[in-house]
Amino acid sequence: MEVIAKTFAGLEALLEKEIKEAGGKRIKPIKRGVKFEASDEVLYRCILCLRTVLKLLVPVYKLKAHTEKDLYFKIKKLPWEDYLELNQTFAIDCVANSSVFKHNKFVALRVKDAICDRFRANNEDKRPDVNVRNPDVPIHVHVSDLDVTVLLDVAGFSLHQRGYRTRDHKAPLNEALAAGVLLLSGWDKKTDLYDPMCGSGTILVEAAMMAQNIAPRLFSSKRFALENWDSFDAQLWRNIKKELKQKIEPTATKIWGTDISPKAVQMAKFSARDAAVDELIFTEQADFFTRKNKFDQIFIVSNPPYGERLKEEDIIAFYKEIGNVLKREYSGCEAWFLSSNFQALKFIGLKPSKKIPLKNGALDVKLQRYDLYAGSKKNNRT
Ligand SMILES: C[S@@+](CC[C@H](N)C(=O)[O-])C[C@H]1O[C@@H](n2cnc3c(N)ncnc32)[C@H](O)[C@@H]1O
Repeated sequence: MEVIAKTFAGLEALLEKEIKEAGGKRIKPIKRGVKFEASDEVLYRCILCLRTVLKLLVPVYKLKAHTEKDLYFKIKKLPWEDYLELNQTFAIDCVANSSVFKHNKFVALRVKDAICDRFRANNEDKRPDVNVRNPDVPIHVHVSDLDVTVLLDVAGFSLHQRGYRTRDHKAPLNEALAAGVLLLSGWDKKTDLYDPMCGSGTILVEAAMMAQNIAPRLFSSKRFALENWDSFDAQLWRNIKKELKQKIEPTATKIWGTDISPKAVQMAKFSARDAAVDELIFTEQADFFTRKNKFDQIFIVSNPPYGERLKEEDIIAFYKEIGNVLKREYSGCEAWFLSSNFQALKFIGLKPSKKIPLKNGALDVKLQRYDLYAGSKKNNRT
C-alpha cells in the first residue's frame, strides 16, 4: 500500500532514513514528509518505531471534483462500508489548497454529509456517528485544486504523543522534534547527556528511549485507529511488539536534567516515570548559570527560553550568560541549542560549528552546535 508520512520541515531526511530502516520501499520526498510503499508489517513497524513522524496516512480514494455538488456525489458513490461500519464513529479533517474549494471546514462538512447520506440510503436511515475527539475511523481529505484524495489516518492522533507527558509545561518541546534534534546532533547514545533547562523533560525522555533502543510507541496506552480496521492483523501486531521488546538494550548511559523551576523538575520526573525510563534519568533543581559542572565528559542538548516572556535586553543577557557558562564550565564538551530567537542566539558569543534551520510548527527555529575546545578559549570566540 501507499503511505504518506508527515513531519516537521527540516526532519524529512531523518524520517526517510527511519522509514528505510523499518522496511519502507520506493521512498519519495514530499512537502514536510515522504511517500513510500509498505506491507502491513512495515506499516505496523512504522507506527511503533518512527521517532520523527507526526502523521501516517493511507490514501484510499482519489477523484477529481469540479464543483461542490460534484464532490458530494462522487464521495457518496464510494464504497465507504469497506472502511467504516455503522456502529463505528468517524471524523473528517480537511486541508484544501484550491481555487474552487476554499474552505476546509465546508469541504469536511460536505464529505461528512455524503458519507452519512450513503449509509442512510443503504441502512434504513441509520448512519455512523461523528466523534471529533476520539473517532474509530479518522478520515483525512486533501484537496489540491480539483484533485481530491481521501486518506485514512493510521493512528487517529498526532504521533508525537507518546503518552508520557501528561503534565502541562508552559513551553514544551514537541516529542518528534526533540527526537529529531537528538538524531541531528549525532549523539552516540553512549556519552552521558545533559539538558540544563529541561522543562518537562522531553529531550531527556527521548534520549533515554534512544539509548535503550525503545521504540517510542511500543508501550503506548492509546489505541491506534488501524486497530479498528477490518484488515488489522492482531497476531502480526503482537509478534512485532514482542520482537521490539526483545530488542531493548540495557545501557550504562546517564541522562541528566536541571531546571531553575522546581515545578518543571517535578514534571520531568513524572515524564521519566511515566515513560518507564526513570532509572537512567537524573534531575535536580538548579540554575544553569550558577551550577558548577560536575561532569567529566557530557553532551549537552537543550532548548532554552525563546524570550516571549522576557524584555529584549534580558533575553540577550540570558543568551550571553549561556555562552559564558559554556566557556567557563564545559570546555571539552559538545553543546547543541535549539531556539527561535535568532538575534539572541548570536549573543552566545561562540562560533557555531553547525547551524540547522528547522520548523517548530509554524515557528522558524535553529539548531546550533558549539564545540567547546579544551584549553583554547580563543578558538571559541566568534
Ligand atoms: C523552552 S523551556 C524547555 C522546554 C523543555 N524542552 C520541555 O520539553 O518541556 C525552557 C526552560 O528553561 C528553564 N530555565 C530558565 N532559566 C533557567 C536557568 N537559569 N537555569 C535552568 N533552567 C532555566 C525554564 O524554567 C524552562 O523550563
